[in-house]
Amino acid sequence: SVYTASTTAPVNIATLKYWGKRDKSLNLPTNSSISVTLSQDDLRTLTSVATSSSFTEDQLWLNGTPESLTSERTVACLKDLRALRTAVEARDTSLPKFSEWKLHIVSENNFPTAAGLASSAAGFSALVKAIAKLYELPESMSEISKIARKGSGSACRSLFGGYVAWEMGSEVDGSDSKAVEVAPLEHWPSMKAAILVVSADKKDTPSTSGMQTTVATSDLFQHRIKNVVPTRFIEMKETILNKDFAKFAELTMKDSNSFHAVCLDSYPPIKYLNDTSMKVIKLIHTLNAAAGETIAAYTFDAGPNAVIYYLEENEAVVLGLLHELFGGVAGWEKVDKEQLTLLKA
Ligand code: DP6
Repeated sequence: SVYTASTTAPVNIATLKYWGKRDKSLNLPTNSSISVTLSQDDLRTLTSVATSSSFTEDQLWLNGTPESLTSERTVACLKDLRALRTAVEARDTSLPKFSEWKLHIVSENNFPTAAGLASSAAGFSALVKAIAKLYELPESMSEISKIARKGSGSACRSLFGGYVAWEMGSEVDGSDSKAVEVAPLEHWPSMKAAILVVSADKKDTPSTSGMQTTVATSDLFQHRIKNVVPTRFIEMKETILNKDFAKFAELTMKDSNSFHAVCLDSYPPIKYLNDTSMKVIKLIHTLNAAAGETIAAYTFDAGPNAVIYYLEENEAVVLGLLHELFGGVAGWEKVDKEQLTLLKA
């Protein structure tokens, strides 16, 4: 017989960025990070797994295309999951020996590749979660997040919805580098996000190699991880728990700027933002100044696309202005309409 399980994992967007590794093969970070996931369904990976004693090899289909399962990162995840299943089977010898059987994995994203969103976080998270479910592992989501982390650092944060912290930990084996929930989605239901797709092109510097360059060459990065992020990590958790949007927004924008500054301080420099990104940044600051309070925040990952956070009550004004930006309005700089599409998350 064939045994199956399915699950989904959401895309997560960091408001306090992970950038830098202290251990490359275990994906152990040089700082703790925080992400916000506003929907479990709008942007997610759906993964189904099957196992049977009759399967002859591990196989993976990604969005309908067969893919290799031999990458070091995937192999590390499968190895850890099989080891945990072996422990389950040792405790109850009547269980089928899934740990020895091959896996067939089918994974689909519900967002277009053209959305220009990194999918590795949702992808690795869904993969690990689906197999953990199939194997009926008793471990908590935080425990399971350590396995997803080995697939892609940011994937550990996609094991939870809502507001999530990835605690960097200090152990060399990574046993305390895991994701924990800060607050569930329902804690702050008026929080909204919009994604401005500035470009769907593949990013020029992949995050893994970009981080290595930054760690090895940037002096500003040393300042960021020692003097900036530790306090910001505590403060951002507080602003989330207190639902203090203005402070949350300020910390989010400052951290995005800090991350892109250490990228530029790398040698050779790494540049992810383009002119359109800079116009979006300017627009949000102008908007906040005009409103007399901070009602919107931007954040950018390793590419030019913006994620804008705002509260539901300000949706009309924030999205209205972003729409006006499409056509170019007196007072705002013109942005090529074709370059910019708006996806709501
Ligand atoms: C800028 O998690 O993609 O999005 O661990 O090498 O797979 P690897 O890197 P990855 O890096 C994400 C970097 C970021 C910030 C963040 O998500 O925290």
